[in-house]
Amino acid sequence: MSSRPDPNAIVALATAYWGSATLIAAVRLKLFTHLAAGAASPAEVAARAGTDPVATDALLTALASVGLVRKEGERYTNAADADLFLVEGRPSYLGPALLYNGDVYPLWNRLDEVVRTGTVHASPDQYLGEDASRTRNFVYGMHHRALGVGRALAEVVDLTGRHRLADVGGGPGTYSAMLAQRTPGLEADVLDLPGVVAISTEIVTQMGAADRVRCLPFDYYRDALPGQYDAALISGVLHREQPPQVLEIMKKVADAVPPGGVLYISDVMLDDDRAGPQFAAMFALNMRVLAHDGRCHSVAEQREWLDAVGFTVTDVRHLPPPIHYTVIRAERRS
Ligand SMILES: C[S@@+](CC[C@H](N)C(=O)[O-])C[C@H]1O[C@@H](n2cnc3c(N)ncnc32)[C@H](O)[C@@H]1O
Repeated sequence: MSSRPDPNAIVALATAYWGSATLIAAVRLKLFTHLAAGAASPAEVAARAGTDPVATDALLTALASVGLVRKEGERYTNAADADLFLVEGRPSYLGPALLYNGDVYPLWNRLDEVVRTGTVHASPDQYLGEDASRTRNFVYGMHHRALGVGRALAEVVDLTGRHRLADVGGGPGTYSAMLAQRTPGLEADVLDLPGVVAISTEIVTQMGAADRVRCLPFDYYRDALPGQYDAALISGVLHREQPPQVLEIMKKVADAVPPGGVLYISDVMLDDDRAGPQFAAMFALNMRVLAHDGRCHSVAEQREWLDAVGFTVTDVRHLPPPIHYTVIRAERRS
């Protein structure tokens, strides 16, 4: 914010959700997919989408104002980014991940209550097996995001010469499938809750990696890892947990990875002073409205916890923008 008195940034923050809501509504209504069929007037879009023509006109105007569609005469077309990322069926379609943000959206409206009481009103279990369609949205959302992030992650996660990877909280299994496909001799176990692995098995099979990647039901609160591994990956998991649970999970991994083994932790991480960056601070809050124990951790904190369970940090890398992930590499000491 500016150092001179200026309410503009405050007002812009107060209404920033308008743009979000506009995008989520358009994705839910598949407007970009309908526009991909050809330029259309608001009435034609409404006919394709089965929506109210007057309200559709207002939504298209708002979408044009944020640059997601273009108006040519009385007809609208998708802007280039919208055509690439928001049309169902395109390989780069981001819909499931955006729809997941839409599911979380009402919870942010109760943020003050969460902070006042410390109580979370959503059950994360809904996304983790309890509600079949939300779980499917969530797991496919993770898969689509992982397809994008995976290329950058694979540049940093080097498993050459490793044979058995434990992908703890591996979700859709996308990273395991990609890593197994690019690393000769590597097999991977995707370890996640039963409702999730039912869907990951499907995804790993679609990716053609089912012969090298197994998806096994696993609960890191209750279970030991189901074997010994010379490599482990914990990606996007620790932001759901407070420090004592993080330490427990790291301990379980240490018990299953003998000396010389390698552990990669990939996640949104706060700076060591825990004062930023902004994305990580907001992401931590998103996790806090969603899951009672949500929290982002700093590299310094994780270095200390890893050290306590027998891992030494050997490298820390930041994935390139717009990916907000930091990757810690650690080796199991003897
Ligand atoms: C944000 S996702 C990350 C998935 C994947 N590793 C990735 O980076 O795309 C967090 C994962 O942790 C899993 N998870 C949550 N609680 C768990 C538990 N108690 N035991 C095992 N996995 C759990 C969730 O099901 C989910 O797949």
